[in-house]
Amino acid sequence: MVEVPIKTASKEYPLFIGNDAIYSLSDVIDGLTPRVSSVFIISEETVAELYLEEVRTNLQDSIPVYHYVVPSGEASKSFENYYECQTFALQSGLDRNSIILALGGGVIGDLAGFVAATYMRGIRFIQVPTTLLAHDSAVGGKVAVNHPLGKNIIGAFHQPEAVIYHLPFLATLPVEEWRSGYGEVIKHAYLSGEEFLSWLEKEVSTLDDLKDEKLLHVLKEGINVKAQIVAKDEKESNVRAFLNFGHTLGHAIESELGYGKITHGDAVAIGMVFALRMSEHVYGKDLNVSRLQALLERFDYPTIDCSLDAHRLMEKMKKDKKSYEHTIHMVLMKELGQMEVRKVNDEDVLRVLTTFIKGE
Ligand SMILES: NC(=O)c1ccc[n+]([C@@H]2O[C@H](COP(=O)([O-])OP(=O)(O)OC[C@H]3O[C@@H](n4cnc5c(N)ncnc54)[C@H](O)[C@@H]3O)[C@@H](O)[C@H]2O)c1
Ligand SMILES: [Zn+2]
Repeated sequence: MVEVPIKTASKEYPLFIGNDAIYSLSDVIDGLTPRVSSVFIISEETVAELYLEEVRTNLQDSIPVYHYVVPSGEASKSFENYYECQTFALQSGLDRNSIILALGGGVIGDLAGFVAATYMRGIRFIQVPTTLLAHDSAVGGKVAVNHPLGKNIIGAFHQPEAVIYHLPFLATLPVEEWRSGYGEVIKHAYLSGEEFLSWLEKEVSTLDDLKDEKLLHVLKEGINVKAQIVAKDEKESNVRAFLNFGHTLGHAIESELGYGKITHGDAVAIGMVFALRMSEHVYGKDLNVSRLQALLERFDYPTIDCSLDAHRLMEKMKKDKKSYEHTIHMVLMKELGQMEVRKVNDEDVLRVLTTFIKGE
């Protein structure tokens, strides 16, 4: 097991990663002050069926443990589930010294984290991520639920006490979820620079390569990229926005197709190709889009659905949290590893997006 310290302006906490990480859970809880009075596990159906028992057996018998399970999928990051969790917590008698365990992927991390951020004005929580994508979502303290009019619109910044990344939990992930999570890994490589990107190109030919030492390396590198950015800018006033590389169009596609129709990482992969095309247009130089495309083709990432409408996507892009005054702001790449948030003109976006959708 490896321990990676996550440092933010407001807090420092450990991330434990490895094949035996879950066995540290009871020590982590034991080591907290004030003493933990009860544990509230929030999970979802698929993950709870597979791992809830195992997690429970790694908790001390002396502390009361409760659990609440929501359906699997993005639709569960809802205000209704948030409210139900609060009701359950109150009915179970959770107090200010209780702790929430988020057992699941990014959906549960975000939902349970937001419950923790607001229950009695904020109680402690621990992330127990179970997806590859969660190497991104479990670090950094952004927690939220969706509103029908916007993704992640109701949320908070609330850092966990610890992240416990038990890699055997990933063994049951379906292939499309490996690919989705790997989309964020590729994003982290583009933010980081040549070394990480060429390592991925050389060492990961198929998603089956993501095991043992290689999986650990990929996760540690990805987490480091995210942790370094969060350390500089916890609340996204500056460089943290770079983590949105590929997300302006990616979120618009997810929302246009309907949440759950395309995985987050697939949408981000398409969004990154578009962000590079936009960057080439804005900076007037060759940024080797074909290198990214070749990498994505290896893993069968989809290309953009040609029935999508450029104008509708642009309306969605204007609702992105980076955008203001009804103009689109995107994370563009000046060169590998060097990002910039830039305002882009409607005419430019329309031109590049239209050819992009046509597959030209
Ligand atoms: N807070 C952040 O900084 C941040 C960053 C990136 C993404 N996110 C959020 O994360 C969410 C996406 O996360 P995700 O991709 O992990 O989605 P998810 O939590 O829905 O998990 C994806 C699917 O995998 C299944 N699953 C999870 N773990 C499994 C396991 N071990 N074995 C078998 N099946 C398993 C789930 O049931 C689900 O169907 C989005 O809502 C996104 O907004 C948040
Ligand atoms: Zn993302």
